[in-house]
Amino acid sequence: MRRLGILLSGRGSNFEAIAASIAEKRLDAEIAVVVSNRPEARGLERARELGLTAVCVPSKGVERQEYDRRVVEVLREHNVELVCLAGFMRLLSGYFIREFPMRILNIHPSLLPSFPGLDAQHQALDYGVKVSGCTVHFVDENLDSGPILIQAVAPVLDGDTADTLSARILKEEHRIYTEAIRLVLAGGWKLEGRRVTQPDLPPSRG
Ligand code: GRF
Repeated sequence: MRRLGILLSGRGSNFEAIAASIAEKRLDAEIAVVVSNRPEARGLERARELGLTAVCVPSKGVERQEYDRRVVEVLREHNVELVCLAGFMRLLSGYFIREFPMRILNIHPSLLPSFPGLDAQHQALDYGVKVSGCTVHFVDENLDSGPILIQAVAPVLDGDTADTLSARILKEEHRIYTEAIRLVLAGGWKLEGRRVTQPDLPPSRG
């Protein structure tokens, strides 16, 4: 299960971090296709520059189920086994989720379940939390709500703006997305309720 399908809508820095991990042999996988719902997405252009297959499936004016059907078709054409949402600004339908059960990951710039949805870094600043971070989780039909694979913490500093906090969190995003993909591809993880555990790993001491 090594063929990744990346879905993005914008800048694509998480996609680039995954591509770099693969190029530097820190992740044993290949990017089968990059799909964007927005033709102007910088990530799409970057994918082409990297010589990857990059496809735009425009979402404007297309009904959700029909849109998802089109994207699933592209993913199937490229024999995608694991779908990685990387700044893909759409909620997936039940149809899409059922086509790739426990095979869709997302990254979100907060410690879920705090601050789901848009502008998570703004939400964190407005709330006044002292730590935030990011989460890689399996995707279900609800917004930013599936079982959590990995989280990383980033401190919120006095004087932070949404931009400075986002940059600090983004560094952690780039690190943990690769880790989470590695964990899923390695297998041996189990879902107990909402908890993703790795029973095969020796218990940590301490
Ligand atoms: C990231 O902050 C990610 O957590 C969120 O959308 C942003 C995408 O950034 N889901 P990029 O396009 O990967 O640079």
